Amino acid sequence: MAELNRLHFNEEASVYDSKHDKFNERVAKEIRARLDWIGVDWVSDDDDDDDDDDDYGDGENDKSNRDPSRPKKEVRLLDYACGTGGMSRALAPYTTQCIGIDISEKMVEVYNSRAENQGLSHDEMHAIVGDLLATTGELGSSAESHSPSLRVVEGAPSPRLFGFDVAAVGGGLHHLADPELASDRLVQRLRPGGVLLVWDFLLHGPLGDRDRDRDHGVLHHGLAEDRVRALFEHAGAGKGFDLVVVGSGVTRGRRCKHGHHHDHGGHGDGHGDGGDDNEENGDGEEEVLVRRQLFLARGEKY
Ligand SMILES: C[S@@+](CC[C@H](N)C(=O)[O-])C[C@H]1O[C@@H](n2cnc3c(N)ncnc32)[C@H](O)[C@@H]1O
Repeated sequence: MAELNRLHFNEEASVYDSKHDKFNERVAKEIRARLDWIGVDWVSDDDDDDDDDDDYGDGENDKSNRDPSRPKKEVRLLDYACGTGGMSRALAPYTTQCIGIDISEKMVEVYNSRAENQGLSHDEMHAIVGDLLATTGELGSSAESHSPSLRVVEGAPSPRLFGFDVAAVGGGLHHLADPELASDRLVQRLRPGGVLLVWDFLLHGPLGDRDRDRDHGVLHHGLAEDRVRALFEHAGAGKGFDLVVVGSGVTRGRRCKHGHHHDHGGHGDGHGDGGDDNEENGDGEEEVLVRRQLFLARGEKY
């Protein structure tokens, strides 16, 4: 399953942003409108002003001479199943470091070239290839065998992959064989009090036949609210759990005459007004627009 995701998103990487930019912008807007609700002590312009006034050291990396009463504030984001970096870019202005992890090396390449093109340093924003469900490697555990081991994290010394202030998964959980186990492992990488933040779709019933969904790496047709709550609780990030539906949108499926739906794997427009209009396409299938509800969920690590 993980391998199917890797192959699918490797193929999608070069067109992913053009296909989903509108949707991703909308999600970013919804996230930024809820910074207080997410509940992280984000960096703000005031923190930058502090840095500007800081005449104790030679630069921001010189911690030796810094006034200890004014330590440099760090807000570190782990963006899991980061893709090209939608979550990271939404939250980058309020953090000091974003580290993305994704199973698809091509998505990671796009993430990193976008970060470089924005003029961000490696320390400020970079992604690595990894799979929290892998059975071996730095991100994996040999104890459980939920998916084949695929990737070992390159670079990044492991201490940098722990102690995050926020761990985010944007549109990733429904692609994971075991969202619960991945969440458990993700929350292990949060500092106590750190926040787990998820966007995904509420349970929406099957869109496509199993084979086609598998080819798109779609393993769950959304997640029921109760399941999301239980997942946060189990992972140890249920403190102050909240889930809000922030919009609904349509995604295109194709339905055979004998009743199967074929999900195109897209996100839809997130907030479109499309109804259930179906269009014949002349090859024995009809296009079906299926409405999905987009949610944001947050909870703190105990
Ligand atoms: C729908 S995309 C979402 C990308 C991004 N978070 C965003 O907001 O646009 C799902 C991503 O999950 C990644 N993915 C799927 N299975 C994974 C796994 N086991 N571990 C890490 N990433 C995975 C895919 O490669 C893909 O980039």
